[in-house]
Amino acid sequence: MCGIVGYIGENDANSILINGLRKLEYRGYDSCGLATISNGELQISKTLNRIESLTAAIQNNGVSHIGIGHTRWATHGGVCERNAHPHTDSYKKFIVVHNGIIENYLSLKKMLKEKGYTFYSDTDTEVVPNLIDLYYNGNLLETVKKVTSIIEGSFAFGILCKDRPNELIATKRNSPLIVGIGNNENFIASDFSAILKYTNKICILENDDIAILNEKEVKVYDKNLDPKQVTIKEIDADDSDSEKNGYDHFMLKEINENTITVKKTIDYYVIDGKINFDLNLTDNDIKNIKQIKIIACGTAMHAGLNGKNIIEKLTRIPVSVEVASEFRYSDPILTENDLAIFISQSGETADTIACLELVKKKGIKHVSIVNVKDSTIDRLSENVLYTKAGTEIAVASTKAYIAQVMLIDLFAIYLADKLESYNKEELSKILNYAIELPNKMQEVLEMDSMFCDYAKSISNCRDVFFLGRGLDYYIALEGSLKLKEISYIHSEGTQFGELKHGPIALMEEGTPAIVMATQEKLLDKTISNIKEIKARGARVLAVTTLKEFPVDIVDEVIHLPKVCELFSPLEAIIPLQLIAYHVTVNKGLDVDKPRNLAKSVTVE
Ligand code: AGP
Repeated sequence: MCGIVGYIGENDANSILINGLRKLEYRGYDSCGLATISNGELQISKTLNRIESLTAAIQNNGVSHIGIGHTRWATHGGVCERNAHPHTDSYKKFIVVHNGIIENYLSLKKMLKEKGYTFYSDTDTEVVPNLIDLYYNGNLLETVKKVTSIIEGSFAFGILCKDRPNELIATKRNSPLIVGIGNNENFIASDFSAILKYTNKICILENDDIAILNEKEVKVYDKNLDPKQVTIKEIDADDSDSEKNGYDHFMLKEINENTITVKKTIDYYVIDGKINFDLNLTDNDIKNIKQIKIIACGTAMHAGLNGKNIIEKLTRIPVSVEVASEFRYSDPILTENDLAIFISQSGETADTIACLELVKKKGIKHVSIVNVKDSTIDRLSENVLYTKAGTEIAVASTKAYIAQVMLIDLFAIYLADKLESYNKEELSKILNYAIELPNKMQEVLEMDSMFCDYAKSISNCRDVFFLGRGLDYYIALEGSLKLKEISYIHSEGTQFGELKHGPIALMEEGTPAIVMATQEKLLDKTISNIKEIKARGARVLAVTTLKEFPVDIVDEVIHLPKVCELFSPLEAIIPLQLIAYHVTVNKGLDVDKPRNLAKSVTVE
């Protein structure tokens, strides 16, 4: 989604903003722009193309020491240059970049028009510089406070005033924004990756904080304009995480990091054969859990489905998996002995955050599984378990999914151990199987040429089915999402048994069907279902860990190493991730930045 970067300092803002925008590209965007002030002149450049074309556009810009940049993911107003940020007021004095949505912008726009302001875009954002102009009393801090008290919705703003080239303003409500602190230079950013090259010292703004930055210092005020202490955190991340390291695409690099991700997760949490989680949950709290709700979106929700399978098997506690955008408006039934589990790679997904706030308000115990430290979900949660995936850049989540699955598997074992709900010896065997997983996963990664060959055969197809029963259905769902989100081929992840209740109508001669078969006790049923689709002309690829799988009933088979069935998603998803990757490369599409999608979905 939209990204913000801002700079004030002794160096040239142009190159720093371009570099910051490049680092924000992974969030997904459809246009971008930047504004700088140089010798009292305001320079604004925008493009519908990639950041590289901005570089060309600003080539003749003079050196500037202040500026703001933005990557836009359209919400209000189509994808066109005049809707790209930054936006100014009618008199080109105040300049604003914005993440979020201003819900009452229509009434504000009407009021501003009546006062003679002219609008040049269809965005909600454009009301903001005009409101600043309307209320400006010579004190920008007071004016920004006044404006943010009028607007409703979510926002993170970077604000410049053409007449005040020594001041950069930032403020936020329900959309992340940080201040970066350097030497003789300071920064703002919606995401620390944008400024990590220059500083790892950040201050995380809280809702309605207003920060004023100049080259030498940063001041932060609360919503009453009382000064606040600037709390500095040092980010423990490496800028090289956001490099491709020789791979053609981030997605391919990240799939190849699946193995190390699982290893890191296990090494971090399993010490001397015991799972160590530092949680504010007593043994009694755990014994009292009556039901678990796992709440997440997209791929994280699919990781949650895997969690349902293993938690229910090992603990017999009923688990429901909730799509965050539905759960928040569903008037959910929650009782004091419930445990909520939130899963989010970015920790910034608006719907998941809203559910977390709802659950907190009801006083329900919760644990969040998050990849990005210091993200909003991390900061809001009473208990956090960190996935050890490192920075994930490609929009399609791969290694973060693997890390979420591994961590929720460990959490299930941890609960079962505390509850004594599963045979102790069996449980420690299961944990040992987990420790063996990285080697098996590596073997699967090394089978890539098979996945590449198969991808060639489906690259021009219109529809692909991903089918499975039980846990295999959850893997199918995630495989289907991967394929559709980057290759734009229509795909369906369907419960195999449910197929004949409707979707089988779409099965035609040659329709590709990828069947997951990793669950021994469901093999016979899966075989019958395969026969049903073969009879309708489907071209079937089976992805299986089962030696007894009857290869002659399908067109192609990918045999994966046998792993403990509870962990099959961790290796069986790898072929599906790689097939989606190769299909997309074959089609010549942008693998890492698929159309319409954003890495961090910060609006609901
Ligand atoms: C994954 O490939 C997707 N792009 C998407 O479904 C993602 O998993 C979802 O938006 C949730 O994001 P989060 O994990 O950052 O909360």
